[in-house]
Amino acid sequence: MNVLEAIKSRRSSRSFENRQLPTEVITAIEEAIMHSPSGSNAQESHFVIVQDREQIKRMKRFAQGVSGQPAAFIVLCSNKEEALVRGGIDTLEELRFVNIGIVASFIILTAQSYGVGTCPVRSFHQSSIQQILHLPKAVAPELLITLGYSDQKPRPKSIKSTSEVISHDKFGEL
Ligand SMILES: Cc1cc2nc3c(=O)[nH]c(=O)nc-3n(C[C@H](O)[C@H](O)[C@H](O)COP(=O)(O)O)c2cc1C
Repeated sequence: MNVLEAIKSRRSSRSFENRQLPTEVITAIEEAIMHSPSGSNAQESHFVIVQDREQIKRMKRFAQGVSGQPAAFIVLCSNKEEALVRGGIDTLEELRFVNIGIVASFIILTAQSYGVGTCPVRSFHQSSIQQILHLPKAVAPELLITLGYSDQKPRPKSIKSTSEVISHDKFGEL
């Protein structure tokens, strides 16, 4: 599957088979994380890959945006101290969130290329997840990604027309 095929076939998965992820998928995702860009190459983000069933159960109690029983969570965290030291004020105030968004795409598309479904989740209780994962104070969970083999066909999705979203050369020019 090439990248565009992965992009076009991806939809958020919210219901999963009761099946673990093979090690090769986790390894590929780790590689994707390590090769993701970051502003000033600050690499201030941290990632917790959760596959332990009990830990998943605990996290779900504080993550109301999660649907289904995922085989794994990836918790995308930003480290505010490292953001400032390694990237400066821009990274602390804004770029750390941009960096998280980019690496999220890398993770999601890598999973998709292995036939593994994902859903990004922002609706969760930050400090509870921080506690469950024993994250240091400066390391905040910003986004969860659930992973698993989807057991549902994707529902139809409404997509804006290309001309509403994309201009050429100047705003509004088709
Ligand atoms: C930043 C972000 C946060 C999201 N948070 C949630 C969430 O908490 N729960 C959820 O079920 N889906 C969440 N989603 C998934 C979106 O609802 C989904 O991407 C959108 O409806 C488009 O559908 P698609 O992913 O199938 O293309 C989130 C997506 C993004 C990008």
